[in-house]
Amino acid sequence: MKLASRINRIETSKTLQVKEKALELKAQGIEVIDLTAGEPDFPTPPSVCQAGIEAIQQGFTKYTANNGIPELRTKIAQKFARDNNLSYTPEQIIVSSGAKQSILNALLVMVEEGDEVIIGSPYWVSYPEQIKIAGASPVIIDTATTDFKIQPRQLEQNISSRTKAVILNSPCNPTGVVYTEPEIRDLADILLQKDIWIISDEIYEKIIFDHLHHISVATFGNLIEKSVVINGFSKSYSMTGWRLGYAAGPLAVVKAMSKIQSHYTSNASSISQKAAVAALNGPSEEIEKMRRVFEERRNYIKSVLDKRSYFSYVYPQGAFYFFIDISAVFGSRGGEKMIENSLDVCSFLTEHYHLVTVPGIAFGDDRHLRISFAASQESLEIGMRKLTEAMDHLMERK
Ligand SMILES: Cc1ncc(COP(=O)(O)O)c(C=O)c1O
Repeated sequence: MKLASRINRIETSKTLQVKEKALELKAQGIEVIDLTAGEPDFPTPPSVCQAGIEAIQQGFTKYTANNGIPELRTKIAQKFARDNNLSYTPEQIIVSSGAKQSILNALLVMVEEGDEVIIGSPYWVSYPEQIKIAGASPVIIDTATTDFKIQPRQLEQNISSRTKAVILNSPCNPTGVVYTEPEIRDLADILLQKDIWIISDEIYEKIIFDHLHHISVATFGNLIEKSVVINGFSKSYSMTGWRLGYAAGPLAVVKAMSKIQSHYTSNASSISQKAAVAALNGPSEEIEKMRRVFEERRNYIKSVLDKRSYFSYVYPQGAFYFFIDISAVFGSRGGEKMIENSLDVCSFLTEHYHLVTVPGIAFGDDRHLRISFAASQESLEIGMRKLTEAMDHLMERK
């Protein structure tokens, strides 16, 4: 029996190979430093957990409204007004089982076979695959030579009669770059003139450094009418396992997303929704504490990388990742193997230094690797020592 052709269009994660090796080493009792985490290493704030416990104790354990409980959607609408200067009614909000689902919901209502969706590379791993699941094709703008930000002229050049949507992501995973207000404005100026949807993934909004402020593209002109803004609780509130994300957009789009969602996951977990209300009611000191720790770790990694001239990197001003250019060691010999790409470097680090990182190719960029600083200071210190030793070793073997 044949599987649907849809499944052949989608790639499995390119990180699997490195992950499998790491698991094999762990199974042999070898201590492995894992810097691949895509989630904060802090516990969910106690007040949020307590709200989840109370939801269970009070029997709030049944189906809810498909688009989310009114109490939570009202809170989210207030959050948009307060933090993003965006005005939505609670009916314009849909709560889903993670921002990942919110993005797919948006794509499923916006695009069809033959359509194109623009994304910048390096990109979050799920964008191209979700675009393909929705039947469209990703059009990828390489930002490696433009400070890892999509430039207005690149955006303009890549818009065709088939373009249905563009996905923007700031702060960005995997680079940590944050678009400034003038940069977003320049992109907005182009998008204002075009008939295309915008999906603005703002999930790392609260993890931002150097006194920067996040600005949503939807705030410019009438772009709110063409945008679906994506956010969630995973990163800001350290709630990855609660699976809770949300989207806001024009009423007709959100209603369409709700229609789709009603036939595959229905509502997000009732318990998680109650916990999310508590999150938005605010353990703000704890959120700020996490943000500060991330910033300190960012500064620490930068100080280590700056000691070696062969490293170049994207200076992350948000999220919790460092995207490091390791192409200086391409052409060297690591053990038995020639090192030729990001996967080779990551495999070498895993095998010989027991340090696990994500190869840039997973994000569409083969000259970099990504390390996550959602790891303890101790792990980071060991990890950075291993990385430097490994790179020194490879540089001597060029
Ligand atoms: C850029 C980006 N968007 C969306 C998500 C999805 O988050 P979740 O589904 O946990 O809400 C992630 C998670 O890694 C991400 O990095």
